[in-house]
Amino acid sequence: MSDLGAALEDKTVDAGGAPIVELIDIGKSYGNVHALRGVDLAVRAGEVTCVLGDNGAGKSTLIKIMAGLHDYTSGRMLVEGAQTHFRSPRESLEAGIATVYQDLALAPLMSVWRNFFLGKEIRGALGLMKTDEMKRITGDELSKMGIVIPDLDRPVGALSGGQKQCVAIARAIYFGAKVIILDEPTAALGVKQSGVVLKYIVKARDAGLGVVFITHNPHHAYLVGNRFLVLKLGGVALDKQRADLTLDELTAQMAGGQELEELSHELRELDTDPRRPDADRA
Ligand SMILES: Nc1ncnc2c1ncn2[C@@H]1O[C@H](COP(=O)(O)OP(=O)(O)OP(=O)(O)O)[C@@H](O)[C@H]1O
Ligand SMILES: [Mg+2]
Repeated sequence: MSDLGAALEDKTVDAGGAPIVELIDIGKSYGNVHALRGVDLAVRAGEVTCVLGDNGAGKSTLIKIMAGLHDYTSGRMLVEGAQTHFRSPRESLEAGIATVYQDLALAPLMSVWRNFFLGKEIRGALGLMKTDEMKRITGDELSKMGIVIPDLDRPVGALSGGQKQCVAIARAIYFGAKVIILDEPTAALGVKQSGVVLKYIVKARDAGLGVVFITHNPHHAYLVGNRFLVLKLGGVALDKQRADLTLDELTAQMAGGQELEELSHELRELDTDPRRPDADRA
């Protein structure tokens, strides 16, 4: 993790530049459920924007708007300065926005290299697949990212969760994404695997992509983020640059400091067992 820390120190300043994607006062209702209201977000090249929030806060709704799965119902979305409504995920992808969902859109039984080129296969005369070339490129691209997968013929299903996320990130970069959106990529991973994914988030950022990183985990966010947006009940509870925010503040915001205080009170009142460890000292 110390490499990661060093990488971050270099680039904690606002990378500036015009946003690639900008959401202005965006809102989304599903019938009379207001999943999002009044949210502003700017995705810039070379920056990681973290979106945090509790279950049901509106994180997935926010990225589905950028990914072309749902349209917004109020506000504006600008893509490279022009107001846009995506009518399908394909339109979002064509605009250079790659979305990596937690339950990845990788085919588990197909090999690593087939997945890397899925839907973008290189074909020669008579439509025959150029297998060797695709394998070579897959190997080159993964190793550029520092990902070592000894056998590219292995089915993707045999990779670890972290490796799968990394293959999906490397693929998005290779096929020219300008923005990569990751929905809770570390949620199901252990400490070490999470570290690997966080490193590729930094690599994607350093390759000049705008990264949107959705997570519940303030520690993961703080390690890689330039900007932090915390959603609560569909609204913005916090929106800060890294320089204006400490990890403690972010954690308290996520945990709901006040609510935790009350909970700890209630738990203490419940705990009247005389055999509890500190009973004799009380
Ligand atoms: N298709 C839908 N129809 C109706 N309501 C929806 C729909 N999708 C989401 N919602 C509602 O919108 C709100 C925000 O949901 P969303 O999935 O964006 O939250 P989230 O922050 O991603 O939560 P989680 O951390 O659990 O993934 C919730 O109240 C949810 O019930
Ligand atoms: Mg979600």
